[in-house]
Amino acid sequence: MTRKTTSSSADPLVCDFTGGTVLHRFKYGGGRGQSLPKAVGMRGGKTPKVVDATAGLGRDAFLLASLGAEVTLIERSLEMFNLLNDGISRARDAGGDVAEVIARMTLIHGDAKDLLPDLSPEVVLVDPMHPPRKKSALVKNEMRQIREIVGTDEDSLELMQVALSTASNRVVLKWPLRADPMDGIGPCSHQILGKSTRYDVFMIT
Ligand SMILES: C[S@@+](CC[C@H](N)C(=O)[O-])C[C@H]1O[C@@H](n2cnc3c(N)ncnc32)[C@H](O)[C@@H]1O
Repeated sequence: MTRKTTSSSADPLVCDFTGGTVLHRFKYGGGRGQSLPKAVGMRGGKTPKVVDATAGLGRDAFLLASLGAEVTLIERSLEMFNLLNDGISRARDAGGDVAEVIARMTLIHGDAKDLLPDLSPEVVLVDPMHPPRKKSALVKNEMRQIREIVGTDEDSLELMQVALSTASNRVVLKWPLRADPMDGIGPCSHQILGKSTRYDVFMIT
């Protein structure tokens, strides 16, 4: 993990499940037909338990929990963990249907490489900080702010290896649409393509 210490953004980074794009996606999103739910296996009435090994701001986890999945979120950066924990607490306090979703999310602080073996996960989602894109102006401000906190996740191959050796059903790697496959883990079983990202799905069973 390479850390950077610069800060250039005007708006502070916040985790908010009760407004903005997260709430909009919750109310008007495409349900289980979206790429991520499909990738984790939410088909045919199945609702797997998911471990999100790279929680970040918890957006992917919230989407899956909003569709009924029990999600365990793991975040190793204390700063990101505190932001996320704060967002979860505020959403719980807000009550209503967002709080019902939050009740399906369990947040743990630590490194997923150490924690996954004891969790015996069914499905693991891995969304590491990707290397910066050449057209850096296109990278969203929020993603730049997260990068300023956590740097680049240079151990994502090791994380994938642990995920693949512990998941009983599948591992889903969220990856830039046009990036080469991750070296060192072999080919995925299938891919689900989005607008700027893709999901490389590694079936175990
Ligand atoms: C790209 S962000 C994830 C964004 C997330 N999918 C979301 O929807 O908000 C990557 C996050 O994973 C965390 N991370 C990376 N490797 C990790 C590991 N081995 N264990 C726990 N957290 C990790 C980083 O600290 C960072 O916060």
